[in-house]
Amino acid sequence: MAKAWGGRFQQQTDARVEEFTESISFDSRLAEADIIGSQAHARMLATVGLLTAAEADQIVTELEDIRGVIARGELPFRTELEDIHMHIESELIRRIGDTGRKLHTGRSRNDQVATDLKLWTRDAIARIDGLLVNLQRAFVGRCDRDLDVVLPGYTHLQRAMPVLAPHFWLAWVEKFERDRQRLRDCLTRVNISPLGAAALAGTSLPIDRHETARLLGFTEPARNSLDVSSDRDFVIEFVFDLSLIAAHLSAWAEEWIIWFSTEFGFLKLPDAFTTGSSIMPQKRNPDVLELIRGKSARVMASLTQLQFLTKGLPMAYNRDLQEDKLALFAAFDTTAACLELAEPLAAQAELQRDRIAARLEEGFLDATMLMEYLIGKGVPMRTAHETVGKLVALCDSRKCRLSDLPLADLQSACDRIAADVSKVLGTANAVAALRSFGSGGRDPVLEQLHHWRTRLKN
Ligand code: ARG
Repeated sequence: MAKAWGGRFQQQTDARVEEFTESISFDSRLAEADIIGSQAHARMLATVGLLTAAEADQIVTELEDIRGVIARGELPFRTELEDIHMHIESELIRRIGDTGRKLHTGRSRNDQVATDLKLWTRDAIARIDGLLVNLQRAFVGRCDRDLDVVLPGYTHLQRAMPVLAPHFWLAWVEKFERDRQRLRDCLTRVNISPLGAAALAGTSLPIDRHETARLLGFTEPARNSLDVSSDRDFVIEFVFDLSLIAAHLSAWAEEWIIWFSTEFGFLKLPDAFTTGSSIMPQKRNPDVLELIRGKSARVMASLTQLQFLTKGLPMAYNRDLQEDKLALFAAFDTTAACLELAEPLAAQAELQRDRIAARLEEGFLDATMLMEYLIGKGVPMRTAHETVGKLVALCDSRKCRLSDLPLADLQSACDRIAADVSKVLGTANAVAALRSFGSGGRDPVLEQLHHWRTRLKN
């Protein structure tokens, strides 16, 4: 078959080369974007007089039909046609001949593929953003029913201070909110049009890049054709954003895997989202969470792949860039799949209230609040810290809790301690005492919850 670029060639392309250089096996998912980009290009060519209005109409209509044919899987893909751009163009030419042969006027596959990628990425950002909102809603949606549950908060995975369970849920919501902000920011750079940069240097033809930018919903055309025909920063940025989402999901999955263990026993996962063992009949495994943790590696690897791919490329387009799509699609598909499963898990997992409560007085979760009680009585912070540290050591030796110590023992550690100390001892009192902005006590948590409900219209 004759190549679109075959004019100066005397030999047929080696079949192995065709096999090696094709991208249709993975870039067919750009079909929709390619058609939208070509339709805008054709319309613009008519406004500047490079096509007649009738020719542009015919191209746009025919491309619309081809869009349906591809969506139904009815366009056969052929390795010798290399990529999606060639498939669509050659199908157009097969249908309408010379008019079709005019579509590629003032454009190259280099600006074309960059434009397609940006159109595709724009949709991908919207899709990930929607999945993030769903996950945020799942966490916000369970806050009411968990509002009376106190959880031990940890640092270094050592019991530290108590917080209300929704404080944990809203902590994840915050992380996913920053992920959404990053996506919005990335979008501002995705939204710059490459179309008309042509191969690398632009064109001598009187094209109107502002018009195609406008038609495609981009903010403006890129200023420099060399830069934009080879720019993949937006792919790297998007995949970085995805890898941070994947990292957040992985850390959350890890935490819930720990909470699901017999040792912690904080969490019950729904049967529909756990799996069994082929040999140990009693097992219920958190495989979905483990795979959310595991699959994040693929997203991060895609980021690394893209950074390596682009770090040594001379200006401007190099065929290496064809590989960007493999990393981009893998990162997107994986992150989307993880988000889709995270949502029902986040919504449906149940806290094991009794098991959590049974051990809530272990680990001196009230020690910091006792120290703050002393500060309230005028004891310098460092002195109060040392005093409570000694009381904890005393409890350790007696195998008891701070709230078990007789008032006389407390007072012999510090004479400012009075009977009202009982109001800050014990985990329930400790969590009730938390009141600073953004903290894990009742009022501050309700304030956060109000913020998210309003924001997410939950
Ligand atoms: N399939 C190619 C890619 O994805 C399209 C651009 C080809 N450009 C070229 N000059 N060979 O990068």
